[in-house]
Amino acid sequence: MTEHNLEAFLPKKEGYVVAVVGATGAVGQTMLEILQERKFPISKIIPVASSRSAGSLIEFNDESYEVEDLDGFDPEGVDIALFSAGGGTSKQHAPRFAEAGCYVIDNSSAWRMNEDIGLLVPEVNPNDLEMARHNRIIANPNCSTIQMVVALNPLHAVVPIKRVNVSTYQAVSGGGGKAIEELAKQTASLLNGETAKVNVFPARIAFNVIPHIDVFLENGYTKEEQKMIDETVKIMHADIAVTATTVRVPVFYGHSEAVNITFEDEMTADHARQILADAEGICVIDDPASEDYPLASDAAGTDPVWVGRIREDASCANSLHLWVVADNIRKGAALNAIQIAELLIAQ
Ligand code: A2P
Repeated sequence: MTEHNLEAFLPKKEGYVVAVVGATGAVGQTMLEILQERKFPISKIIPVASSRSAGSLIEFNDESYEVEDLDGFDPEGVDIALFSAGGGTSKQHAPRFAEAGCYVIDNSSAWRMNEDIGLLVPEVNPNDLEMARHNRIIANPNCSTIQMVVALNPLHAVVPIKRVNVSTYQAVSGGGGKAIEELAKQTASLLNGETAKVNVFPARIAFNVIPHIDVFLENGYTKEEQKMIDETVKIMHADIAVTATTVRVPVFYGHSEAVNITFEDEMTADHARQILADAEGICVIDDPASEDYPLASDAAGTDPVWVGRIREDASCANSLHLWVVADNIRKGAALNAIQIAELLIAQ
């Protein structure tokens, strides 16, 4: 974990009461998996979702737990709640969890740009957790932003970054369980000579590429693009000019990003490669001679942010290209949230 100067948020205990809100969803399920993998100290796990799945059973550490209905759920006594049940649900319920004394780590976009709420990537800005001391809500950034700032921050610490131009290749799992199902069903339908039904995405995603994630804004960007622009500046506390084109591709897990960076001064590809190789949370795979570079299929199911194709931009001074890949459900969502929870219990 990056060095921080935080004092303890939660008292030292053998185990904490942890609620996972959205426990039946794509991110919620991975949160439960990662809590087990990392042996997060838990005295009681409480899976929470909507009335649709209340009463169903979830396995955790070889025991079964009944899913509770968020609407009737009393958060009294919960130490940490990991929310991944959509923005509207977070807006409505996170404040009452926080008022009951629980720390809420929210994966939605509901609180991210609220100036009183910290937007945390533990490798980048752990000290911003201080903002949660009283309001007890912490925002987990957008998946595409997280993997990009993990790669940008160590470079920026050596030579300040002036501008970033990013194009993303985003997996369908970022849209949740129904989105994963839509790619699978459309692919099967088309291969069987049937028509593909479009429900979740704005167009057919099977055998296609869609330059449209979230809604369009008046400035012509999509909201997903605007999130990358605004969140990068907030997390890095730097006046970096960011522009983005965010694109959905027919990949189940793992977001890839082509990132073009312009620095204030010279940053060679070799220097960047060495800085990134030493940086926390990053693995560099960059060997054109043996055709080695990061792939979404390799990153899926793993924790690091993978960086490759590091090269100087021949068209522009002080500029580099990077190819940045990560599991959008793990580092892009569930893992980052649990790393924040680990900061909350650090003594
Ligand atoms: P449920 O299974 O009861 O619908 P995904 O991102 O994969 O689509 O998952 C969304 C998660 O958020 C699911 O666990 C879903 O629960 C939960 N969820 C969605 N809406 C609500 C709500 N209004 N209250 C509680 N949980 C919700």
